[in-house]
Amino acid sequence: MMLMRGITPQPSTERMSLHMSEYLIQGGTPLRGELAVHGAKNAALPVLAAALLCEKSTIHNCPDLTDVAAARNILHYLGCSTTQQDGTVTVTFTQKGDHRIPDRLMRAMRSSIVFLGAVIGRYGMAEVSMPGGCELGPRPIDMHLAALRRLGVVIDESGGVLRCTTPNGLKGARITLPFPSVGATENVMLAACTAKGETCLSNAAREPEIVDLADFLNAAGADIRFAADGSILIHGVDKLIGCEHRVIPDRIAAATYLCAAAVTGGKITLTHLRADHLAAVLPVFEEAGCRMQYGQNTICLKAPERLTALGTVRTMPYPGFSTDAQSTMLAMAALAEGTSVFIETIFESRYKQVGELVRMGANIRVEGRVAVVEGVPKLKGAVMNCTDLRGGAALAVAALAAQGESRLCSIHHIARGYENFDLNLRKLGAQITRV
Ligand code: UD1
Repeated sequence: MMLMRGITPQPSTERMSLHMSEYLIQGGTPLRGELAVHGAKNAALPVLAAALLCEKSTIHNCPDLTDVAAARNILHYLGCSTTQQDGTVTVTFTQKGDHRIPDRLMRAMRSSIVFLGAVIGRYGMAEVSMPGGCELGPRPIDMHLAALRRLGVVIDESGGVLRCTTPNGLKGARITLPFPSVGATENVMLAACTAKGETCLSNAAREPEIVDLADFLNAAGADIRFAADGSILIHGVDKLIGCEHRVIPDRIAAATYLCAAAVTGGKITLTHLRADHLAAVLPVFEEAGCRMQYGQNTICLKAPERLTALGTVRTMPYPGFSTDAQSTMLAMAALAEGTSVFIETIFESRYKQVGELVRMGANIRVEGRVAVVEGVPKLKGAVMNCTDLRGGAALAVAALAAQGESRLCSIHHIARGYENFDLNLRKLGAQITRV
């Protein structure tokens, strides 16, 4: 479907129906079979934002997600036309658009703030609403703003709106992030790649999605290098042309399907993934007693009769254990024999799904950022509400292993980050239907 600038579609029927849909899951079937992992949401979104800086980009392996649809809507508003077909999104900058992103578009996607750096880079100014809190707790953007100010952006924050201007243009600078924030790193890269001079970003995030964004920008004409000490060096260029790019596989979706196979006592092979991106996550499956085989771009997992406890899992910035993989791992631990301990160091409210798991019979105590999971031999199906994207996936994982039927509501959260979630699980033999 070709959409031109300014023509912002109403929420699609698909999206509205997702809000009204539920998953019915009959638990107890071990997952078996092979599944190709789709492209990474967290890589596709910043790459789509980066496409605003280019003339024309072709992005392959772009997952079909509601967040990607929201990003395309923002691009239309900003002066681009886009197409999406068979996993390929093209973005063409057609004419000067608006530098203001309306509040409703900002709210349609949690990560819309990643457009800020790109809009400033393209237009020299930007106006966006402040992102509010989200399901994971308050989501401040102080580091994004402080870093952009170092690049010469003047920011007026009033009435919940950020008005950004660059009276003297964007200028390269030395910036040190207080914490390796993924979003702040992306915004600096997007704003700095066409700034005057060199930017050195220290204590930058090192997630594979950051490297993917740098790969896209470099192929499009930017000059971004990773220094040995982990800082990112960005030499400003006059303009970006665009390129053809393939989005990296979704390591979090991969971890989710592995959890689902492990907790149901199944055996699956995932293809089209990067095992090195899961280096901190895979040993936890081994710790739980799963037999793992690694091939080129494939992982095969065979679950034991019963999983054993996972020990202590502490979430950390990459290359540490991903906070996004924590939720589904915790659901898996709920059925493992023994005690597993989770320490969440990235987000404040990342245990919201625990209440629902307890309703299924799980034995989990949460104190602040620590969750202690005493594995139980069985869970019972229940009616549950998805609390957020990964929390929703975690409830589905638990329901797939539980006895009896579960009904999962608010599944639009899951559609933000998983392409064909129910279809993929059905392909692996799960009894899950969308009603
Ligand atoms: C990204 C990912 C998300 C993942 C997270 C951590 C996308 C679209 N989302 O989110 O899936 O869970 O990285 O790997 O890529 N913070 C501040 N001030 C700031 C920025 C962040 O206090 O200016 C805090 C956040 O509240 C959070 C922590 O830093 O507690 C990490 O946030 P950040 O790395 O920025 O995550 P996101 O980019 O939002």
